[in-house]
Amino acid sequence: MKKINSLILILSLGLASSVSAQKKTIDQRVDSVMKLMTLKEKVGQLNQYSGREVTGPSSDRKNYLLNDIKNGMVGSMLNVKGVKDTREIQAIALQSRLKIPMLFSLDVIHGYKTVFPIPLAESASWDIDAIRATAHVAAAEAAASGIHWTFAPMVDIARDPRWGRVMEGAGEDTYLGSVIARARVLGFQGNKLGAVDGIMACAKHFAAYGASMAGRDYNPVDMSEQQLHEIYLPPFKAAADAGVATFMNSFNTLNGIPATGNSYLQRDILKGAWGYKGFVVSDWGSIKEMLPWGFATDLNEAAKFAIEAGSDMDMESEAYKKELESLIKSGNVNVKVADDAVRRILYKKFELGLFDDPYKFSDEKREAKVMNDPSYQKIALAAAQKSIVLLKNKANILPLQKSMQRIALIGPLVNAKRDQAGSWVVYADTANIVSVNEGMRAKFGNAQFSYSEGTSITDTSTVGFNMAITTAKNADVVVMVLGENWDMSGESKSRTDISLPGKQEELFNAIKATGKPVVVVMMAGRPLVFNNIADKADAIVYAWFLGDQGGNAIADVLSGDYNPSGKLPMSFPRNVGQIPIFYNHYNTGRPVTKSNDIRYKSAYIDSPNDPRFAFGYGLSYTSFAYSDLKLAQASVIKGQTMKLSFTLTNTGKVTGEEVAQLYIQDKVASLVRPVKELKDFAKVKLNSGESKVINFELTPAKLAFYKEKFGWITEPGIFKVMIGGSSDEIKLEGDFKLR
Ligand code: BGC
Repeated sequence: MKKINSLILILSLGLASSVSAQKKTIDQRVDSVMKLMTLKEKVGQLNQYSGREVTGPSSDRKNYLLNDIKNGMVGSMLNVKGVKDTREIQAIALQSRLKIPMLFSLDVIHGYKTVFPIPLAESASWDIDAIRATAHVAAAEAAASGIHWTFAPMVDIARDPRWGRVMEGAGEDTYLGSVIARARVLGFQGNKLGAVDGIMACAKHFAAYGASMAGRDYNPVDMSEQQLHEIYLPPFKAAADAGVATFMNSFNTLNGIPATGNSYLQRDILKGAWGYKGFVVSDWGSIKEMLPWGFATDLNEAAKFAIEAGSDMDMESEAYKKELESLIKSGNVNVKVADDAVRRILYKKFELGLFDDPYKFSDEKREAKVMNDPSYQKIALAAAQKSIVLLKNKANILPLQKSMQRIALIGPLVNAKRDQAGSWVVYADTANIVSVNEGMRAKFGNAQFSYSEGTSITDTSTVGFNMAITTAKNADVVVMVLGENWDMSGESKSRTDISLPGKQEELFNAIKATGKPVVVVMMAGRPLVFNNIADKADAIVYAWFLGDQGGNAIADVLSGDYNPSGKLPMSFPRNVGQIPIFYNHYNTGRPVTKSNDIRYKSAYIDSPNDPRFAFGYGLSYTSFAYSDLKLAQASVIKGQTMKLSFTLTNTGKVTGEEVAQLYIQDKVASLVRPVKELKDFAKVKLNSGESKVINFELTPAKLAFYKEKFGWITEPGIFKVMIGGSSDEIKLEGDFKLR
């Protein structure tokens, strides 16, 4: 036994020293490059341009960019893609004195050529392997096309559906968001940087951007330390722990200080407490935005604030390029600060292998092969199916019988292709996207289809209604495809009114009045408000923007070939006045305990408090029973893990998947705690009648909360345990004591 142990020790020491030797090699190589660099060349590495024009027709901007590249003044470019273009630009970078290769970056948010569901949709799958798989395909395609680095995942927690960027993230919950952040980072990067089917990921936007005041993009954020550490930072920490190569800072201020100039965030927390070794890129122009914020007097001051606060690379402000050299020469900025930034960037270039082969990611043969890999569409279909959330299914109208005779397709999004790609499409051929019309016709081969648009998304007239009504009257069932267009969510797409745009609600009423059963398929990049439809539709399928295979996935759900399994990653409000609305809120000193008694209670007089559809909610064509909750002990000592188990049974007639969710409540603490906090979940597939015992563990970290001046702490007391298939449908409850 002893021998085996010492062998393991020798082997692991050997491994450790070879790892540090390898690391030393990169450090040494970085040092050797740094020694050769002039101050100007160092500054060049910190400069990032958008290179859209650089391969285009001759223009002043093109000449300007080319000149800077040749002079070693560009460390990275975004928006140059494809083997041909990246090779061409890399060759110019290699004409510079030190021949330092350029990093090509791009917003590969939910697919490169293959378009996957928007990130919020994918998060509704709660399927971590599927999420990792799509990120990996996106990376493989981008990496085959000359890209080294994506500006994803966005890991901002978002509790305000007015904010258009909710479509880019994982929704409102910190635990789910952290698990997904990790999966996306591993999906994009693979196990090790440098493999030609992976790219560097970027955790963005650091930090608290999702809390932009009033849901308006680029707005300020004011929040407590406790909220910041407990709600908004953990997904970033999860990304850092998963080895994310880069971070991007954000457009917002945090408690009065722009994130880009925020050394508390970037130096104290990220590079300090978390020991983060990657580099931080500014968001687009966010260094110069410190001027309109009224935080910096001029670009010179902005550059000083940003570099000192830990923003390593300057995206599109030209603040470093124009100001850093003189700031350093005049002694206003210590050269060590800039050296650290340069070192971090060069390190990544070495890790990617670009110094050994600057064209490593620009291989025409690989590009042609990878870009047409048919297996990717299968991954896209699975991801799209899993992302769909069934919100309502009155009298089990769904799934529709395949023998259905006459199906009317009505609404502005029946033929949607581009819309189903959502925002952030970088290379896709959106004409290839499968519309609902195409998907349904392929699936229900024997049915007779009719179609009427009825109204466009933003129509102000009702002229198309009559035709749509006639179409409905001549059908056995109506499938209405309603929602937002792709350009109503995403960056800079905040809305104050998140109900259905245009005359769509009126069209729905007119069609419903025909007496025909109406199934509504809703497409959007955010939770929408649609109470009337929620009340009256026979079924509602929330289909977000599902990407390439959207129409097929929707047809699979409507036909029952796929049993829906998605659960909402964000609360759906009843009206905008409830926002921000999220399940893990506090109780208040005057909670509403009986819905009909709201006098002097924390309530609205014109709306219930609860959302229309809760976080974690989603129906299936089968049903699940929860039983036999067993807590391993009645109490645990601080530092111990509480183990628990329960039995999940498929009580319906068909195979289905359930997302079983574990919530806790710390009943009494020195800081008031939320009514519920998600701490684990399991997505489980069960055949009809099948049961399975599910195990969860509440580790000490899951029982902790953040308290200013103390950090993460746990306090003795009673913890309530709640398990169910939605945050508002708890099926099992228990409690235990922490001693
Ligand atoms: C966005 C970032 C994005 C960057 C580069 C900015 O406007 O906020 O998320 O990565 O542009 O396109």
